[in-house]
Amino acid sequence: MPHTEGLFISFEGIDGAGKSTHIEAVAQALEAQGRSVTRSREPGGTPLAETLRQLVLNDAMDALTESLLVFAARRDHIQRVIAPALAQDRVVLCDRFTDATFAYQGAGRGFDLGVLQTLEQWVQSSGDASQGVLQPHLTIWFDLPPSVAAARLARARVPDKFESQPLAFFEAVAGGYAARCEQDPERFARINADQSPEAVRKDVMAALAAKGFLSGAPGA
Ligand code: TYD
Repeated sequence: MPHTEGLFISFEGIDGAGKSTHIEAVAQALEAQGRSVTRSREPGGTPLAETLRQLVLNDAMDALTESLLVFAARRDHIQRVIAPALAQDRVVLCDRFTDATFAYQGAGRGFDLGVLQTLEQWVQSSGDASQGVLQPHLTIWFDLPPSVAAARLARARVPDKFESQPLAFFEAVAGGYAARCEQDPERFARINADQSPEAVRKDVMAALAAKGFLSGAPGA
């Protein structure tokens, strides 16, 4: 039986891990199997959240302010986009979600993980206790050494506030992702992103197929 209910998949990894290309391939594979797909990103995904994104990515601020802004953006995104799409049995593909906050603000900037956990509970609860805290059904984590990611970024574009951080920052962020993966291994699919784009794509499709979210692995 193909999966037909609402499905929430997030994509994570340090800057330069190459997730964007693969998100579009996943969207097309799911659409080819008849699913309706909502593509989105964080911070962002609504007009308010996109405004907050500009501030977070460009303005200097302390780590608490940054955390509050990304969670404020997330709240709006969940209420206006993610929850309604899931209620309509759509697939939501989100370029980053809360694991990024634990990795960047928590591990990267050294902000208090306990405060982030509290914000996560507040922001991702609907108010209906029986529904619990919203989390992705699957998180595809593009894992690659920070030095490799830095070399890719150096070739690619003008860096934003995070992308211009030193290697040590990304080593901490990568450690943050590894810790989140360890805490919830069922939710995570770790993809070795230090391979050719074709090999990465194959592994991503296989991870979706293993969860029953894609039948077979098209293009694999
Ligand atoms: P990214 O997803 O890499 O988008 P682009 O490909 O357009 O550069 O950029 C988002 C940046 O925001 C990335 O550097 C990570 C950062 N970020 C946080 O610091 N905290 C968060 O909670 C989220 C969602 C992202």
